[in-house]
Amino acid sequence: MHPYSLKSSKGAPFPPRPILVVLIAIFGFYVCYISFNQITLENRYEENSGEVQAEIHCRKPRLPHEELRYVHFPKPESYSRGECSCNPVRSFVLVSMQRSGSGWFETLLNSHPNISSNGEIFNRVDRRENISSILQTLDKLYNLDWFTSAAKNECTAAFGLKWMLNQGFMDHHDDIANYLNKKGVSVIFLFRKNTLRRLISVLANDYDRDAKQLNGTHKSHAEILAKFKPVLDVSNLIPNIRNAEKYIRDCLDHFNTIRHMILYYEDIVRNRNALFQVQEFLGVPVRKLVSRQVKIHTSPLPGLVRNWDDVSNKLNGTQYAHFLDGADYVHPPQQQLHRTYCITVRKYEQ
Ligand SMILES: *[C@@H]1O[C@H](CO)[C@@H](O)[C@H](O)[C@H]1NC(C)=O
Ligand SMILES: *[C@@H]1O[C@H](CO)[C@@H](O)[C@H](O)[C@H]1NC(C)=O
Ligand SMILES: *[C@@H]1O[C@H](CO)[C@@H](O)[C@H](O)[C@H]1NC(C)=O
Ligand SMILES: *[C@@H]1O[C@H](CO)[C@@H](O)[C@H](O)[C@H]1NC(C)=O
Repeated sequence: MHPYSLKSSKGAPFPPRPILVVLIAIFGFYVCYISFNQITLENRYEENSGEVQAEIHCRKPRLPHEELRYVHFPKPESYSRGECSCNPVRSFVLVSMQRSGSGWFETLLNSHPNISSNGEIFNRVDRRENISSILQTLDKLYNLDWFTSAAKNECTAAFGLKWMLNQGFMDHHDDIANYLNKKGVSVIFLFRKNTLRRLISVLANDYDRDAKQLNGTHKSHAEILAKFKPVLDVSNLIPNIRNAEKYIRDCLDHFNTIRHMILYYEDIVRNRNALFQVQEFLGVPVRKLVSRQVKIHTSPLPGLVRNWDDVSNKLNGTQYAHFLDGADYVHPPQQQLHRTYCITVRKYEQ
């Protein structure tokens, strides 16, 4: 007899067909129920992990309401901020002109463990070719997906760059101002009061760039730079000074709605309290900042220009006469340090 024939099971008790149907149906429902539960669980999990950083763990820092626009919780794509993912970060830009002490100032900033200033990112033409390449570069930078020697660890609390006025900053001032405002970026303006000194420094530096054979350490480099004495074009001296001052004024006008502070190189050299204000402005713990960079021109101005007598005669009696005796450290009494930084919050029209 065939072992699987129906007849062989005839003797065993077999449930009637309707009961079988009901059992199968219940089993079916059970399977559906389980898998449905799993789907919803997964959904809930995905929702959580997406928002976990911004909404659940990162509490708003204890700051005045109008300051909250300026702190961010970036989520870099290239790494995790780890234990510091909820430390607020301020975006900043250091705006300056060549030969105004911004290189030295940046090394001071970068001596702070929580500040990362990433150099002249826009010295590369392709990054400033048009406004979209500028904004793309800034987006990447302020998302902390930018790596330079200045990049710190995940506990960076202020992240930015150094930007010269002639690196597209003034060419696209409207779009850039809108961006900085929308993204809550703070601006530090760093200029040099003694335009004459800056002019001499620019000339000496141009010479240095032409004389490409200069190598060696920063120190000997600085010595060679200081040895070079430029001849100033006296006939254009006053227009040059005027233009430089107008350039700075225009810049401050274009960006006066952005949260900013104005610094002068001469003030930082003279008064290191200025550096404490900078740190407060950037929202980082205040500490002593140090730089190992060598100051280039330490001698008095008359020793720096070959035709000093002509220069002196030209400026004597003009509003720029004080530049003549103006070492970086001596200053007319009316030039006070900007004790308070101006914070302007633009009101949004909805
Ligand atoms: C802007 O510049 C970038 C980089 O040079 C270029 O790839 C892009 O096509 C330019 N976009 C426009 C709109 O001109
Ligand atoms: C500064 O960095 C240190 C360690 O690198 C970190 O413990 C601290 O929380 C940071 N401070 C801020 C304000 O982010
Ligand atoms: C710089 O280095 C090159 C080759 O390494 C050398 O020929 C030249 O003399 C150096 N220049 C100075 C100013 O030291
Ligand atoms: C400026 O000019 C006046 C006279 O015009 C002269 O007495 C004075 O010494 C000059 N100052 C300098 C720094 O050359």
